[in-house]
Amino acid sequence: MSTTFHILGFAGSLRKGSFNRSILRAANELLPPGVELEIFDLEGIPLFNQDYDQNPPEKVKEFKAKIRAADAILIATPEYNYSIPGVLKNAIDWASRPYGDNSLEGKPVAIMGASPGMLGTARAQYHLRQSFVFLNMHPLNRPEVMVTFASDKIDKDGKLIDSKTRELIRQLLENLMAWARKIK
Ligand SMILES: Cc1cc2nc3c(=O)[nH]c(=O)nc-3n(C[C@H](O)[C@H](O)[C@H](O)COP(=O)(O)O)c2cc1C
Repeated sequence: MSTTFHILGFAGSLRKGSFNRSILRAANELLPPGVELEIFDLEGIPLFNQDYDQNPPEKVKEFKAKIRAADAILIATPEYNYSIPGVLKNAIDWASRPYGDNSLEGKPVAIMGASPGMLGTARAQYHLRQSFVFLNMHPLNRPEVMVTFASDKIDKDGKLIDSKTRELIRQLLENLMAWARKIK
């Protein structure tokens, strides 16, 4: 049996040049030994319709199966209008339904987020933490990875070049693994 610790990561942005997709790719370069990160693209998940939650679209079935198979979840969220983007909320809503079949139930989860602004998605991250209560997920508290002024820290090729932020993400991944093992 494999002892690799498996994290499923997704970003709440579909944008090609997304800062949040960039920091997720950076996480993939900063994994502690024995940890792997699978990045799931939310592109193609339709708008949630409760009429279909008993028989969801294939992409949603795939998403839920991958969540269930993961030891922990890593979410990179943009901030839209002081909250999380609809793309991310929509994916979470699908993953949590139908009632009684919440694939996110009990999962350890870490958040990070990047914004060109000065608060680095802080408001969105706290909204997301509120949803974790109803989802019964177990969020890691620290470090808080709020990447401010993202356009100065991510280059034109989408690489995270800020060493302090890279160190913070490395620490986040290490803490996520320790947290997941502690609460198992
Ligand atoms: C609809 C919309 C609302 C936004 N609202 C906020 C906001 O509340 N706070 C913020 O820091 N940036 C806000 N922004 C700017 C985003 O932080 C910026 O577009 C960022 O690049 C999005 O993340 P991404 O690069 O991963 O796509 C908003 C952008 C859009 C399109």
